[in-house]
Order: sequence, then structure tokens, then C-alpha cells
Amino acid sequence: MRRTQVAIVGAGPAGLLLGQLLYKEGIETILLERRSAEYVSGRIRAGVLEPGTVNVLERAGVASRLHAEGLLHEGVEIGFRGRRHRINLKALTGKSVTVYGQTEVTRDLMDARAAAGAPSVYEAEDVALHDIAGPSPRVTYRHRGVGHEVACDFVAGCDGFHGISRRSIPAAALSVYERVYPFGWLGVLADFPPPWEELIYANSEHGFALASMRSPTRVRCYLQCSLEDRIGQWSDERFWTEFGRRLGSEIGARVPSTPIAPSIEKSIAPLRSFVAEPLRFGRLFLAGDAAHIVPPTGAKGLNLAVSDVFYLSEALRNFYREPPGDRAESALDAYSARALRRIWHAERFSWWMTRQLHRFPGDAFDERLQHAELEHLFESRAAQASMAENYVGLAL
Ligand code: APR
Ligand code: PHB
Repeated sequence: MRRTQVAIVGAGPAGLLLGQLLYKEGIETILLERRSAEYVSGRIRAGVLEPGTVNVLERAGVASRLHAEGLLHEGVEIGFRGRRHRINLKALTGKSVTVYGQTEVTRDLMDARAAAGAPSVYEAEDVALHDIAGPSPRVTYRHRGVGHEVACDFVAGCDGFHGISRRSIPAAALSVYERVYPFGWLGVLADFPPPWEELIYANSEHGFALASMRSPTRVRCYLQCSLEDRIGQWSDERFWTEFGRRLGSEIGARVPSTPIAPSIEKSIAPLRSFVAEPLRFGRLFLAGDAAHIVPPTGAKGLNLAVSDVFYLSEALRNFYREPPGDRAESALDAYSARALRRIWHAERFSWWMTRQLHRFPGDAFDERLQHAELEHLFESRAAQASMAENYVGLAL
């Protein structure tokens, strides 16, 4: 039996950052993660950080490498009908985004937790939550064949979409909102200098494509694909040929072809919009992918996880600031509503970006509307400002 103030389930960016923010507030945590530290730090994920996210990472004391290696982008481009249209984020909002891989954010947070000497259990099996509706929740798990129990004041469910935390809440206590998209994203990571300065989101008659990057020597690119597709059907050559077809010959010609750039990672991910409400059940709080999923088109997944745990850390800080006898649960009530307001804004934007930039089977009328809305975006400063505001992220 161990005792702590907050037991955190999941060592993704949400769990690790919450641990770091609470550490800065002198609040004790134990972190329980099902996978190994190597696996967690090796996962390939997205990498566009809103300025608000950078601020929170600075507060957590984990932004020095981000500032040293992150790429500041003042705009993004939209490709349509063989032309590229730049959305000048800086001119429209006064803000820029930072391209810095989630893998790097996770590594910086893992290093900070190790440096803080805060307890983490990787390869924690069979994590289970108990008595979360009451004042004394407990978490049990097995580690190297031995059973363990943690007594705590609160549990933070940061264990992602497939985690145990959300599933520990009675179905009647949760409202779930979901939309599944009829296509996936085929992503490739490759080592060559990005022959594009800023991200390019392309709506082409052959489907969506995204030209992104990780560093001055590494690119990350995506193609809309069928959910029936299998990685084996997509050779590197087929990927880059199709990529060139969708981005247009000018960009296509810049991708190394002799030899073909070998992929160092290739994966297919489904697209989903998902929200579970509320984010609190008794002494359990949900944050990050455990509570919501956005399609990656708006680059909001990581940024939402960060804003969730920023709000949650503030709520817990306010709770623990009161002397033990005066601690009011009311300080915690605001978390769910505050986070959900931002979550639904990001859900709407991510859904809008997905609807604007992908080929949807079937409806020619919808396609005409999509094209008309894109043309309006390119002609209207007001429409561009709305897109830019959402892309750089609404105020925290
Ligand atoms: N017990 C312990 N750990 C668990 C369990 C469990 N039962 N189930 C899942 N986990 C761990 C996973 O192994 C993972 O490391 O919880 C962690 C959840 O991390 P993420 O999925 O990265 O979720 P989150 O921290 O909310 O980050 C959201 O990740 O998927 C991207 O686009 C998403 O950028 C967003 C970010
Ligand atoms: C990425 O770099 O992986 C990336 C960037 C922007 C997105 C999605 C993914 O919208």
C-alpha cells in the first residue's frame, strides 16, 4: 500500500505534463503506465504546438529544448486545384505555431519527471480503479507479478482512448458524442530536408494530403487512404508518387526520387471525433484522449491534452491551497466545464478542417459546397482570420 495525493494513470503527454505541473505546485503524484518507458518515448505522433501550449510547457519548466530545436511557423498553406494559398497566421493573429514532435515533448517530460525523482511505474499491468465515487479512491495494479495498491485523494485518468479510466465510469453517468470518418490517414516519416517551408494541407481530386516536418532533416507526410488499405499495399514509391500527384508537380518534383526516400515509419490511423462528458466522476478526472479525440486535420490532439491538464492542475492547486479542514470540492467543479468549452471549439475546428480538405464518398452537392467554401476562404480575410484564430488556438 502506497499513499499519494494524485494517482495519474497513463504516461502520455497528458499524464506526464500533469505530473510536472503538480510537482511545481508541491503536490505529490504517482504515475502508472502500462507500457515500457522505451515504448512510450518511441511513439510517433503529431507535432504542431499552439503558443498557449508552449506557455504551459514553459511554466512546467520543460521548454528549453523546444525553444532550441522547435521550428517557428508564421503561416500554413492550403493546396487546391494545383495552386497553394498561404494563410498568414502572424499577420492575422499576431501569433505563430511551433513545429516540435510530440515524441520530443514526451521525452522532455519523462526527463523532467526522472530529474524530479517523482515516482513512476512503467509496465504496470491490470490497473484498476476503486471507490472513485467516494472520498478515498484507490488504484491497484500488478508489477513484475506482484500486486500493489495506491491510496490517494484523486485519480487522473490520462490513459488515452483505450484506457481503463473512462471505462471505470458508469455508462449512465457519461454522455458520449462521436463521429467516425469513412477514411484514414496513411503517415510516413522520412529523412530528407523538407522541400517546403511551412505545412501544406492539400485538397485534391485524388484525396487529402499533408506535407509536414519534424526538423530541418526530417519530413512527416500523410495521405487520405481507405480504411481497407493495408501498409503492405503502399510501397514508398507508391506513397511518394501519389503524394506528388496530390500536392502538385512543383512540390512533387522536390521529393527525392533517385533513390526513393525510404520511410523510417509508416502507419495508418482512422479518423474520429469523440467527446465524453462530464470530465469528472467523483474523485476521478479525465484528461486528454481519455475524454476526447479529434481528427488530426486541425493539429489539436496534443494541444487539447495540454489545456486539459493545465486547467486540472489549476483546479487541484486551488483545492490543496486551502488548509486540510477547509478544502472545498467546489474548487474542482469548474474543471469539466472549463475544459469542455475549449474541447468543443477544437472539435468544431478539426471537423471543419476535415470536411474542407478530404474527399467524401458520394455527395456531389456537398463537394460543390466544399469547393465554394474553400474559394471563399482564399478570397475573404475574415474567413482566413477565423481559420487562423482557431489554428493558433483559442486563449487558454
Ligand atoms: N493502464 C495504464 N496505462 C494505460 C492504460 C492502462 N489501462 N491504458 C492506456 N495506458 C497508457 C498508454 O499506454 C499511453 O501511454 O496511457 C497513455 C495515454 O497516452 P496518449 O494516448 O498519448 O494520450 P494523452 O496523454 O491524452 O495524449 C493525447 O496523444 O494520441 C495523441 O493525438 C493525441 O496528441 C494527442 C495526445
Ligand atoms: C504532423 O506533423 O504530424 C501533423 C501536423 C499537422 C496536422 C497533423 C499532423 O494537422
